[in-house]
Amino acid sequence: MTADADIIEALRSAGLAGEGEVFLQPLTGGVSCDVWRVDSPAGPIVVKRPLPQLRVAAEWLAPVERGTSEVRWLRRARSVDPHIAPEVLAELPGHAFATRFLPGCPVWKDELMAGRVDAGFAAQVGKGIAAVHAATAHNDTDRADFPNDEMFRALRVDPFLLYVAQHDAELAPALTALAEDLSGRTIALVHGDVSPKNILVSADGPVFLDAECAVYGDPAFDLAFCTTHLLLKAVWSGEARLNDAAAALVAAYHAGIDWEEADDLLVRAGKLAAALLLARVEGKSPAPYLTDPEHQRIVRDQARALIRASQPIDALVANWKRI
Ligand SMILES: Nc1ncnc2c1ncn2[C@@H]1O[C@H](COP(=O)(O)OP(=O)(O)OP(=O)(O)O)[C@@H](O)[C@H]1O
Ligand SMILES: [Mg+2]
Repeated sequence: MTADADIIEALRSAGLAGEGEVFLQPLTGGVSCDVWRVDSPAGPIVVKRPLPQLRVAAEWLAPVERGTSEVRWLRRARSVDPHIAPEVLAELPGHAFATRFLPGCPVWKDELMAGRVDAGFAAQVGKGIAAVHAATAHNDTDRADFPNDEMFRALRVDPFLLYVAQHDAELAPALTALAEDLSGRTIALVHGDVSPKNILVSADGPVFLDAECAVYGDPAFDLAFCTTHLLLKAVWSGEARLNDAAAALVAAYHAGIDWEEADDLLVRAGKLAAALLLARVEGKSPAPYLTDPEHQRIVRDQARALIRASQPIDALVANWKRI
């Protein structure tokens, strides 16, 4: 039986495909999963099924159970605010799942790359991430529901922090200490992949997708991860509005911190952002659009200086240079 036939059968069993014809259309992206838009008389849905091995040059192994963590994150986020994640319609065999298709919602990355930069939307992103962190902070049920430290280590700590440490003797002590600090903090529910390519732009604000790396960990990671993407795009495009968007994101997130001393979190996020910036030019998962050696140098020089002498993430963003 083909993969398509498997999916259609699973959807029929879940009562999601109706009796008529069903069309599967692969959606773009997807180094870690098969993702289809499925059209049937029952309406459009999205089916996502994790691959046992990621489709990237340097092979990363990741357990398919991450499909189930993603479902848990989506449901938990919707319980905080139903606008910020798609509705999960069914869990399917193989840790696959179906969500409601959101029509007419572009991917935020595509908007940014096309020069449509809206600081107000970036602020909504910061507010949304902070809302999930605030709702889940110091919560034993959430801590127990996301025991994914091993997966987070394999998909985030190792490739983004330790891989660079292994190739850079000078920065290794700082990066190793940062990796240990990150791994040791269990504060709130972290999405783990808050990148513009995983955010849809809806009329009701941002919709977060792709929570395969969700873990009960350090919320500073999500803030740093998303901010990093905006700063890299600012260098790529030379567009000052991307710095403004990053600042708006950080400010809105800052306003939502009610579970710990905000300054402490901003310091941790500044350190993580410095390391993640370097990882995007020297790590296992380089930013695909940052191919110009001069752009890479601008990012590398600033990131290395920031790893040596860190700044809170709001200051880091304010001082970030595009040239
Ligand atoms: N519910 C949805 N409604 C509309 N589009 C969706 C929905 N879910 C996913 N998509 C589309 O499918 C794309 C891939 O989804 P997702 O990011 O979850 O998969 P992925 O395989 O992990 O992707 P990648 O590895 O590229 O980040 C999204 O960028 C988005 O364009
Ligand atoms: Mg994705």
